[in-house]
Order: sequence, then structure tokens, then C-alpha cells
Amino acid sequence: MTTRSLADLEARQLDGQRVVVRCDLNVPLRDGVVTDDTRLRASLPTIRHLSEHGARVVLLSHLGRPKGQPDPRFSLRPVARELERLLGKPITFLDDPTSEAAVTTVRHLPRGSIALAENTRFFAGEERNDAALADRFAALGQLFVNDAFGTAHRAHASTEAIAHRLKPAVSGFLMDRELQFLGTAIDAPARPFVAILGGAKISGKIDLVEALLPKVDRILIGGAMACTFFKAMGLEVGNSLVEDDRVEMARALIAKAGDALMLPTGACIAERLEGSAPTREVPRDQIPVGWAMFDIDQSSLERFTEEIANAKTVIWNGPMGVFETPPFDAGTLGIARALAAATARGAVTIVGGGDSAAAVVAAGVADQVTHVSTGGGASLEFLEGKTLPGVAALDEVR
Ligand code: 3PG
Repeated sequence: MTTRSLADLEARQLDGQRVVVRCDLNVPLRDGVVTDDTRLRASLPTIRHLSEHGARVVLLSHLGRPKGQPDPRFSLRPVARELERLLGKPITFLDDPTSEAAVTTVRHLPRGSIALAENTRFFAGEERNDAALADRFAALGQLFVNDAFGTAHRAHASTEAIAHRLKPAVSGFLMDRELQFLGTAIDAPARPFVAILGGAKISGKIDLVEALLPKVDRILIGGAMACTFFKAMGLEVGNSLVEDDRVEMARALIAKAGDALMLPTGACIAERLEGSAPTREVPRDQIPVGWAMFDIDQSSLERFTEEIANAKTVIWNGPMGVFETPPFDAGTLGIARALAAATARGAVTIVGGGDSAAAVVAAGVADQVTHVSTGGGASLEFLEGKTLPGVAALDEVR
């Protein structure tokens, strides 16, 4: 399906219109201050375009996981302040976007101005994709733009149901960019096509490995999930994190994948997960009892780097080790740098959101890869080939 985009709408369709825009402004906050504004910056092109074309812009977003009722810890007010700074424009804050007062406020907004509604998850119907709540959100506008790629895997009132109520219902520029990069990588990758998967658990990545296997030339596996594969190979893994109930599955994947699956050949190990604990690098079949793998070793990083260097398309999701605790960040930062080098040589490199996105920032190469997705769970589900309800609900190009 090709989704109709904001780029397909003419200026006259926007001028003076009340446009509801679902963004993913779910950013980390500390003491009321936004600590990573990546998602806010990524949302600016759509917001600016609408404002510059004379629309009355009403932004909807969730923040965190409040339990369907107001919780001041998850208020979007600090986000409104940060957006005002980034846009250089005042933002009208709608405390209760479901109220008649909010509808009146929005109707009286001057052309080109912007309002931000309080957290959509303060309302019980949001996560149930409730029709009545979607009606209330829809009452704020005349047309709908979904730019919340990071939340597109959720069928919620502000992402799914609302798209059936406001027409046109189109994708925003960030959504377009995400679908284009991730979609091209999966459907028509330049080859060799290499996927790098990491993270603690194999359980959350099984569907992804299954979906990628027929498409990629190689899958490189790092992170603690490699240990479940080691165990499936009959190796001693010491105290390393292993999902015992997934060992059989890992064994089956090894058999199915053959050469396409590349596991680390060695591990950086320690007795405790502490930056000050003594570490050793050992071949994967020599992890002693009482020790645990916390990162891939240098020789594995070199082998993985070589594969990445030869690739024309690379997608990466999940860290190679416990990268929040140096020195166990070496493998993850090394992969980030390898992606940057591959990009400089002309490869298309795509980083799935969440931890890997944080890692390219930590490695100082966020602007040296082709695309860093703003979606964690959403990018995973997209790459797994699942339908994203927030996208499926939008208008199709006729
Ligand atoms: C995310 O951060 O991945 C998105 O904002 C979705 O958040 P959720 O997992 O709480 O639905």
C-alpha cells in the first residue's frame, strides 16, 4: 500500500484549516527537562510546513505510560516549552483536549499557530482505540496527519481510530522518511545486505530473525542474546544471561540459517557487571564458570566490521554488549563507527531506534549514518513485516 502524504496536499487544502497532527513526542525527561530532543527535532519539518501554510496546528502525543489517567509526572508541558524554543514560536497548551473549551480555543487560533494537547494517555480510551475518545480528538480538527512513526505499531484512539474520522488522513514528512528508508532496505536492498542484531534477549528478536533470514546475505548476532545461541551449540556460558526456554529455538535457527548467521567467536567477560571489575577476552568456548559475557570481544568486532565494510545495505538493531557500563561499550561503539565508515563508502546504513540510536549518538556518528529511526518497537515490527495500524489507517494513494 502507498500511503497518501502531506506532500500530496496542495497549499489551499491547508490554509486556514485546523490540522490534527499525531506526533511521537515521547522523549526522556529529567526534573522536567528534556534530555534527548531527537524526536522533537524530527517532528519539526511537518509542524513548520503546516504552520507556514497557514494551518491551525493541533499536536497530539503520548508521553510515557501513565495508566489512563492524569499523572503530573507524564505531563507534556515541559515538551511544549522545549518545542517553543525549537520552533521560536509560542504554543497554546490544551490541558483537556477532550473538552468543549479546547475545541473553542482551537477554533480561535490565528492562522499558522500551534497548540499542543496534554498527554493522550491521560484518557482511558486511548490505548483501547476507543471510538468516543477518537471523536473528541477528531473534534479538534478538520484533517489528520500522522507523523508518529514511533507509535505507529499501536492501534490507539489518537493513531488509528482518529484516522477514520478526519479526511484526508495522511502521513507526515517524518513518517514518510521512515517508511521510505526502512521499506527500501527491506524490499529492494542494494547487496550485500547485512543485518546486525543485538540486545539482551533473543525472545524479542525471533520474529525479526525469521523475517530477515530470507532477505539478508548475513545476520551478525551480538549482545547477551548470543549466549542463548552458544548454549544451543553446547558451549559453557558461565553466568551469562541465557533464555533457557529459547535454547531449542536458537538451535533450530542455527540449523536453518547456515552460513548466513554469524555469531561472535569470543567474548569480553567479567565476574560482575561493574566498570571496575577485571575483564578478560576469551574464545566463546572458554567462558569459565562464575564469569559472564558482557560484550563481544575484539576479534569478533573485527570480523563484524569486515562484513559491514563489504555491505551495501546495513540495518542495525540492538547493542553488542552492556554499553551503558564501560568498558562493555567497546563492541557497540565499534559497530557504530563501522556503520559510519560504510556510509562514507556509499553504503545505506539504517539504525533501528532505542539503544542502537543512543549508541550512534554516544559514538558521535549519528549524522554519519544514512538514517536513524525514531521508532524502537515500531521499527522492529516494520522490519518483521507486520502491518503498522497507524499507517494502515491512513488514506491510500489512488
Ligand atoms: C516508543 O518510545 O517506542 C514509542 O513512543 C511507543 O511507546 P510505547 O512503547 O509506550 O507505546
